[in-house]
Amino acid sequence: AGRARTAYVCAECGTDHGKWQGQCAGCGAWNTLSEFVIEPAAKAGASGGATRRAGWAGAVEAPKVTALKDVRHMEDARVSTGIGELDRVLGGGLVEGAVVLVGGDPGIGKSTLLLQAVARMAATLPALYVTGEESLGQVAGRAARLDLPLDGVHALAETGVETILEHAAAMRPKLIVADSVQTLWTESLTAAPGSVSQVRESAARLVRYAKETGTAVFLVGHVTKEGGIAGPRVLEHMVDAVLYFEGESGSRFRVLRAFKNRFGAVNELGVFAMGDKGLKEVPNPSAIFLSGGSTQQPGSCVMVTREGTRPLLVEVQALVDSSPLSNPRRVAVGLEGNRLAMLLAVLHRHGGVLVGDQDVFVNVVGGIRVQETAADLPVLLAVLSSLRDAPLPEKTIAFGEVGLSGEIRPVPNGEERLREAATHGFKRAIVPRANAPKSGALKGLEVIAVERLADAIDAL
Ligand code: TYD
Ligand code: MG
Repeated sequence: AGRARTAYVCAECGTDHGKWQGQCAGCGAWNTLSEFVIEPAAKAGASGGATRRAGWAGAVEAPKVTALKDVRHMEDARVSTGIGELDRVLGGGLVEGAVVLVGGDPGIGKSTLLLQAVARMAATLPALYVTGEESLGQVAGRAARLDLPLDGVHALAETGVETILEHAAAMRPKLIVADSVQTLWTESLTAAPGSVSQVRESAARLVRYAKETGTAVFLVGHVTKEGGIAGPRVLEHMVDAVLYFEGESGSRFRVLRAFKNRFGAVNELGVFAMGDKGLKEVPNPSAIFLSGGSTQQPGSCVMVTREGTRPLLVEVQALVDSSPLSNPRRVAVGLEGNRLAMLLAVLHRHGGVLVGDQDVFVNVVGGIRVQETAADLPVLLAVLSSLRDAPLPEKTIAFGEVGLSGEIRPVPNGEERLREAATHGFKRAIVPRANAPKSGALKGLEVIAVERLADAIDAL
């Protein structure tokens, strides 16, 4: 099996290097490498081989060459988490042997969500909740406050991966929650718990265990200041799915988003509301991300986004203000910053509107993140509205991609978006020509079709 090998691992991107160097060859970051001892395979794989066990469906699978048409389909082996919005984001339930990383800011509700999921799933399969952050008493107290059924839920307060796997080997759970991955450590490394190498190797042990035994594993990960989990992206490529839990402090709404999913679509959103009984599903979230003010304010534009498989009305706000800086600020919250800079350039070149001496702040209400290009037109309309200090007409929505030559390009599912706006009482829609119905109206919604940015500006 050979000797232990020393590697140097970048804390930012997880790239391995054979020797120490000042700059990471993978991502170019400086002083991010730390030493990482890799144990020889025989010892590292100690949980393999003889301990191989049955999957959810009960078949013991030893590795052998098999005709692919004879292999049992993985899709057949999904189980519901008992939480519809979580199932939706997972792509229709949890797959056996899947490792799912759930990331988010501290306090966002990761432990609450997973404790609720474990309590529901424990009714049908043996489940183990491992906590490295709280005492068992605290976990039990929370479960009691949430009125969770605890039949079949097993808990373990432990951070050593070897010990956790020993208990798992004895108990044979089909679901393990490890809360959080930052508290895990393995005996095979000398690095301190919480260091990138410990987090990475500990997670790797759990991933290996999951694959060998068909046990599904949820790893909880706190997001670091830079916005990644435990030294950004180190874990993301090791796991099957990465879900991010997002929300604005002060708002009770939480959005769970698939950032990566080997078993389903990404960008599917699950929406929850945090209450005194924990997280409640919001199965029809369409209009909760509107600010709800009674009169239309300057700098605000409602759009219909379609993250995942359902439409969502969200409000985009802009504040344009003369800047004291020689290099005015462009700040985008909930949208991509580079895209904002690009849109402002298009606004100048093709709309004749200059904001070069202005600070521009853009925000999506409710702490939600919009990644699709349908936000382009609403962003520019909100910017214009703020610049002119004139509100958009009442009950107006917009969506559409803006191209570099000032053209307004269609977005997928235009009619569905328009229907959603009509259902919520909107009267006017500014949308790309190709997304507009020929009659110019839909269910009482007047549809203004635009081909170029200048048309959209005229329409206001
Ligand atoms: P938690 O699940 O501990 O967050 P994380 O594991 O992501 O760090 O959530 C903690 C927050 O949620 C805390 O601020 C209190 C709040 N909360 C409620 O509002 N209602 C509840 O029923 C529970 C359990 C927590
Ligand atoms: Mg927690």
